[in-house]
Amino acid sequence: MADTTELKKGICERWSDPDRVQGWVQSGLNAEFRDAACRRAWMAALRQAVGDARVQEALDIGTGPGTIAQLWAEIGYVSTGLDFSAPMLRAGRAAAAERGLAVTFVEGDAEAPPFPARRFDLVSSRFVLFTLPHPGYAVRRWMRLLQRGGVMVLIGHENPNDPKGQHHPRRSHSKRHPDKRHEEALRQLPFVHHTAGELTVVMEAAGLRDIRRIPMEQVIAARAARFRRKPATGAILNAPYILVGRK
Ligand SMILES: C[S@@+](CC[C@H](N)C(=O)[O-])C[C@H]1O[C@@H](n2cnc3c(N)ncnc32)[C@H](O)[C@@H]1O
Repeated sequence: MADTTELKKGICERWSDPDRVQGWVQSGLNAEFRDAACRRAWMAALRQAVGDARVQEALDIGTGPGTIAQLWAEIGYVSTGLDFSAPMLRAGRAAAAERGLAVTFVEGDAEAPPFPARRFDLVSSRFVLFTLPHPGYAVRRWMRLLQRGGVMVLIGHENPNDPKGQHHPRRSHSKRHPDKRHEEALRQLPFVHHTAGELTVVMEAAGLRDIRRIPMEQVIAARAARFRRKPATGAILNAPYILVGRK
Protein backbone atom coordinates (compact mmCIF):
# COMPACT_ATOMS: atom_id res chain seq x y z
CA MET A 1 0.00 0.00 0.00
CA ALA A 2 1.48 3.40 -1.04
CA ASP A 3 1.53 6.30 1.45
CA THR A 4 -0.43 9.41 0.54
CA THR A 5 2.54 11.32 -0.87
CA GLU A 6 3.49 8.41 -3.12
CA LEU A 7 -0.12 7.90 -4.13
CA LYS A 8 -0.56 11.54 -5.14
CA LYS A 9 2.77 11.55 -6.98
CA GLY A 10 1.57 8.60 -9.06
CA ILE A 11 -1.79 10.25 -9.77
CA CYS A 12 -0.10 13.53 -10.72
CA GLU A 13 2.28 11.71 -13.05
CA ARG A 14 -0.67 10.05 -14.73
CA TRP A 15 -2.47 13.36 -15.25
CA SER A 16 0.76 14.89 -16.57
CA ASP A 17 1.32 12.29 -19.26
CA PRO A 18 1.21 14.18 -22.61
CA ASP A 19 -1.18 11.65 -24.23
CA ARG A 20 -3.51 11.83 -21.28
CA VAL A 21 -3.47 15.65 -21.22
CA GLN A 22 -4.20 15.72 -24.94
CA GLY A 23 -6.89 13.05 -24.52
CA TRP A 24 -8.58 15.01 -21.76
CA VAL A 25 -8.43 18.26 -23.75
CA GLN A 26 -10.26 16.41 -26.53
CA SER A 27 -12.77 14.42 -24.48
CA GLY A 28 -13.16 16.65 -21.41
CA LEU A 29 -12.90 20.13 -22.83
CA ASN A 30 -13.37 20.15 -26.57
CA ALA A 31 -15.74 17.24 -27.16
CA GLU A 32 -18.78 18.83 -25.60
CA PHE A 33 -17.84 22.40 -24.71
CA ARG A 34 -17.04 23.28 -28.33
CA ASP A 35 -20.55 22.16 -29.25
CA ALA A 36 -22.87 25.17 -29.03
CA ALA A 37 -25.90 23.26 -27.71
CA CYS A 38 -23.87 21.41 -25.04
CA ARG A 39 -22.13 24.60 -23.96
CA ARG A 40 -25.47 26.45 -23.68
CA ALA A 41 -26.96 23.60 -21.64
CA TRP A 42 -23.98 23.47 -19.25
CA MET A 43 -23.99 27.27 -18.87
CA ALA A 44 -27.70 27.23 -18.03
CA ALA A 45 -27.19 24.48 -15.43
CA LEU A 46 -24.23 26.31 -13.87
CA ARG A 47 -26.15 29.62 -13.73
CA GLN A 48 -28.99 27.77 -12.03
CA ALA A 49 -26.50 26.33 -9.52
CA VAL A 50 -25.17 29.79 -8.66
CA GLY A 51 -28.71 31.15 -8.37
CA ASP A 52 -28.88 34.55 -6.67
CA ALA A 53 -25.48 34.27 -4.94
CA ARG A 54 -23.34 37.38 -5.46
CA VAL A 55 -20.20 36.09 -7.14
CA GLN A 56 -17.08 38.01 -8.08
CA GLU A 57 -14.25 35.53 -7.51
CA ALA A 58 -14.56 31.89 -8.60
CA LEU A 59 -12.11 29.01 -8.09
CA ASP A 60 -12.27 25.74 -10.01
CA ILE A 61 -10.30 22.96 -8.30
CA GLY A 62 -8.69 20.13 -10.29
CA THR A 63 -9.48 22.31 -13.28
CA GLY A 64 -7.47 20.25 -15.81
CA PRO A 65 -7.42 22.34 -18.99
CA GLY A 66 -9.67 24.91 -17.29
CA THR A 67 -12.91 23.24 -18.36
CA ILE A 68 -15.22 24.84 -15.80
CA ALA A 69 -12.90 27.79 -14.98
CA GLN A 70 -13.42 28.96 -18.57
CA LEU A 71 -17.19 28.85 -18.22
CA TRP A 72 -16.98 30.95 -15.04
CA ALA A 73 -14.84 33.49 -16.94
CA GLU A 74 -17.38 33.51 -19.75
CA ILE A 75 -20.16 34.30 -17.28
CA GLY A 76 -18.04 37.27 -16.14
CA TYR A 77 -16.49 36.10 -12.86
CA VAL A 78 -12.83 36.65 -11.96
CA SER A 79 -11.82 33.04 -12.54
CA THR A 80 -8.95 30.95 -11.15
CA GLY A 81 -8.20 27.30 -11.96
CA LEU A 82 -6.10 25.11 -9.64
CA ASP A 83 -4.45 21.83 -10.62
CA PHE A 84 -1.31 19.89 -9.64
CA SER A 85 -0.49 18.86 -13.20
CA ALA A 86 1.74 21.49 -14.86
CA PRO A 87 1.04 20.14 -18.39
CA MET A 88 -2.73 20.34 -17.76
CA LEU A 89 -2.28 23.97 -16.70
CA ARG A 90 -0.26 24.71 -19.84
CA ALA A 91 -3.06 23.21 -21.94
CA GLY A 92 -5.57 25.33 -19.98
CA ARG A 93 -3.63 28.54 -20.58
CA ALA A 94 -3.46 27.81 -24.31
CA ALA A 95 -7.18 26.93 -24.52
CA ALA A 96 -8.27 30.03 -22.57
CA ALA A 97 -6.03 32.28 -24.69
CA GLU A 98 -7.47 30.76 -27.86
CA ARG A 99 -10.99 31.56 -26.64
CA GLY A 100 -9.98 35.06 -25.40
CA LEU A 101 -10.93 34.22 -21.80
CA ALA A 102 -9.13 35.57 -18.73
CA VAL A 103 -8.39 32.68 -16.34
CA THR A 104 -5.54 32.57 -13.81
CA PHE A 105 -4.05 29.08 -13.59
CA VAL A 106 -2.33 28.09 -10.33
CA GLU A 107 -0.35 24.93 -9.59
CA GLY A 108 -1.17 23.27 -6.28
CA ASP A 109 -2.75 20.39 -4.40
CA ALA A 110 -6.56 20.23 -4.21
CA GLU A 111 -6.23 18.95 -0.62
CA ALA A 112 -4.03 21.91 0.41
CA PRO A 113 -5.17 24.79 -1.81
CA PRO A 114 -2.68 27.68 -1.64
CA PHE A 115 -5.20 30.45 -0.91
CA PRO A 116 -6.26 32.39 2.21
CA ALA A 117 -9.55 31.65 3.97
CA ARG A 118 -12.71 33.31 2.59
CA ARG A 119 -10.94 34.38 -0.63
CA PHE A 120 -13.69 33.13 -3.02
CA ASP A 121 -17.44 33.55 -3.51
CA LEU A 122 -17.66 30.33 -5.49
CA VAL A 123 -15.65 27.11 -5.39
CA SER A 124 -16.28 24.39 -7.97
CA SER A 125 -14.83 21.06 -8.95
CA ARG A 126 -15.72 18.62 -11.72
CA PHE A 127 -14.71 14.94 -11.86
CA VAL A 128 -11.94 15.32 -9.25
CA LEU A 129 -13.10 13.93 -5.89
CA PHE A 130 -12.84 10.34 -7.14
CA THR A 131 -9.10 10.82 -7.56
CA LEU A 132 -8.34 12.25 -4.07
CA PRO A 133 -7.07 10.17 -1.12
CA HIS A 134 -9.08 12.31 1.37
CA PRO A 135 -12.24 13.60 -0.37
CA GLY A 136 -14.11 14.51 2.83
CA TYR A 137 -11.16 16.48 4.18
CA ALA A 138 -10.80 18.20 0.79
CA VAL A 139 -14.42 19.41 0.81
CA ARG A 140 -13.88 20.84 4.31
CA ARG A 141 -10.74 22.66 3.10
CA TRP A 142 -12.67 24.05 0.13
CA MET A 143 -15.36 25.24 2.50
CA ARG A 144 -12.75 27.38 4.30
CA LEU A 145 -11.96 29.17 1.04
CA LEU A 146 -15.55 30.42 0.73
CA GLN A 147 -16.97 33.69 1.96
CA ARG A 148 -20.04 33.37 4.16
CA GLY A 149 -22.99 32.96 1.77
CA GLY A 150 -20.64 31.63 -0.95
CA VAL A 151 -21.54 28.61 -3.07
CA MET A 152 -19.84 25.27 -3.64
CA VAL A 153 -20.65 23.60 -6.95
CA LEU A 154 -19.58 19.96 -7.19
CA ILE A 155 -19.97 18.11 -10.45
CA GLY A 156 -19.73 14.36 -10.79
CA HIS A 157 -21.27 11.59 -12.80
CA GLU A 158 -23.24 8.48 -12.15
CA ASN A 159 -23.58 5.37 -14.25
CA PRO A 160 -27.24 4.92 -15.27
CA ASN A 161 -26.54 1.22 -15.97
CA ASP A 162 -25.21 0.49 -12.47
CA PRO A 163 -27.88 -0.44 -9.90
CA LYS A 164 -26.30 1.91 -7.33
CA GLY A 165 -25.44 4.60 -9.88
CA GLN A 166 -21.73 4.13 -9.22
CA HIS A 167 -19.48 5.41 -11.97
CA HIS A 168 -16.48 3.36 -12.94
CA PRO A 169 -13.47 5.31 -14.18
CA ARG A 170 -11.65 3.77 -17.08
CA ARG A 171 -9.07 1.47 -15.55
CA SER A 172 -6.43 1.73 -18.19
CA HIS A 173 -5.79 3.35 -21.54
CA SER A 174 -4.50 0.21 -23.12
CA LYS A 175 -5.53 -3.39 -22.63
CA ARG A 176 -2.13 -4.53 -23.86
CA HIS A 177 -0.16 -2.24 -21.52
CA PRO A 178 -2.33 -1.87 -18.43
CA ASP A 179 -1.14 0.80 -16.00
CA LYS A 180 -0.67 -1.41 -12.93
CA ARG A 181 0.42 1.44 -10.66
CA HIS A 182 -2.70 3.43 -11.44
CA GLU A 183 -4.96 0.43 -10.99
CA GLU A 184 -3.42 -0.11 -7.56
CA ALA A 185 -3.90 3.58 -6.74
CA LEU A 186 -7.59 3.38 -7.71
CA ARG A 187 -8.04 0.58 -5.18
CA GLN A 188 -6.74 2.92 -2.45
CA LEU A 189 -8.99 5.87 -3.27
CA PRO A 190 -12.14 5.92 -1.13
CA PHE A 191 -14.36 7.88 -3.56
CA VAL A 192 -13.58 6.08 -6.82
CA HIS A 193 -17.16 4.81 -7.12
CA HIS A 194 -19.01 7.47 -5.13
CA THR A 195 -22.60 8.44 -5.85
CA ALA A 196 -24.30 11.84 -5.61
CA GLY A 197 -26.02 10.62 -2.43
CA GLU A 198 -22.69 9.86 -0.76
CA LEU A 199 -21.30 13.23 -1.82
CA THR A 200 -24.35 14.95 -0.33
CA VAL A 201 -23.48 13.39 3.06
CA VAL A 202 -19.91 14.70 2.78
CA MET A 203 -21.18 18.19 1.93
CA GLU A 204 -23.55 18.15 4.90
CA ALA A 205 -20.71 17.02 7.19
CA ALA A 206 -18.58 19.93 5.93
CA GLY A 207 -21.33 22.33 7.04
CA LEU A 208 -22.82 23.27 3.68
CA ARG A 209 -26.50 24.13 3.80
CA ASP A 210 -29.40 24.33 1.29
CA ILE A 211 -27.86 21.47 -0.68
CA ARG A 212 -29.65 21.05 -4.02
CA ARG A 213 -29.30 18.85 -7.07
CA ILE A 214 -29.59 20.77 -10.34
CA PRO A 215 -31.77 19.21 -13.09
CA MET A 216 -29.52 18.04 -15.92
CA GLU A 217 -32.05 16.92 -18.54
CA GLN A 218 -30.94 19.59 -21.02
CA VAL A 219 -27.25 18.75 -20.61
CA ILE A 220 -27.95 15.03 -21.02
CA ALA A 221 -30.13 15.63 -24.12
CA ALA A 222 -27.53 17.94 -25.70
CA ARG A 223 -24.76 15.40 -25.04
CA ALA A 224 -26.83 12.55 -26.47
CA ALA A 225 -27.58 14.58 -29.62
CA ARG A 226 -23.91 15.40 -30.04
CA PHE A 227 -22.89 11.79 -29.50
CA ARG A 228 -25.38 10.65 -32.14
CA ARG A 229 -23.82 13.10 -34.61
CA LYS A 230 -20.19 12.38 -33.69
CA PRO A 231 -19.95 9.02 -31.91
CA ALA A 232 -16.14 8.92 -32.02
CA THR A 233 -15.47 12.15 -30.12
CA GLY A 234 -15.15 10.55 -26.73
CA ALA A 235 -18.38 11.93 -25.26
CA ILE A 236 -18.78 10.70 -21.69
CA LEU A 237 -21.68 8.31 -21.42
CA ASN A 238 -22.19 8.52 -17.67
CA ALA A 239 -24.91 10.92 -16.52
CA PRO A 240 -23.48 14.10 -14.99
CA TYR A 241 -24.91 15.70 -11.87
CA ILE A 242 -24.37 19.04 -10.14
CA LEU A 243 -24.71 19.40 -6.38
CA VAL A 244 -24.67 22.87 -4.89
CA GLY A 245 -24.56 24.05 -1.30
CA ARG A 246 -24.07 27.36 0.50
CA LYS A 247 -21.78 28.33 3.33
C1 LIG B 1 -10.79 13.95 -14.64
S1 LIG B 1 -9.79 15.36 -14.72
C2 LIG B 1 -11.01 16.65 -14.64
C3 LIG B 1 -10.53 17.97 -15.19
C4 LIG B 1 -11.57 19.09 -15.21
N1 LIG B 1 -12.10 19.34 -13.89
C5 LIG B 1 -12.70 18.75 -16.16
O1 LIG B 1 -13.83 18.58 -15.70
O2 LIG B 1 -12.47 18.69 -17.37
C6 LIG B 1 -9.11 15.40 -13.06
C7 LIG B 1 -8.16 16.56 -12.81
O3 LIG B 1 -7.92 16.65 -11.41
C8 LIG B 1 -6.55 16.94 -11.20
N2 LIG B 1 -6.19 16.47 -9.85
C9 LIG B 1 -6.33 15.22 -9.34
N3 LIG B 1 -5.90 15.18 -8.07
C10 LIG B 1 -5.47 16.44 -7.76
C11 LIG B 1 -4.90 17.04 -6.61
N4 LIG B 1 -4.67 16.34 -5.47
N5 LIG B 1 -4.58 18.34 -6.65
C12 LIG B 1 -4.79 19.07 -7.78
N6 LIG B 1 -5.32 18.56 -8.92
C13 LIG B 1 -5.65 17.26 -8.90
C14 LIG B 1 -5.84 16.18 -12.32
O4 LIG B 1 -4.55 16.68 -12.56
C15 LIG B 1 -6.81 16.40 -13.48
O5 LIG B 1 -6.48 17.57 -14.19
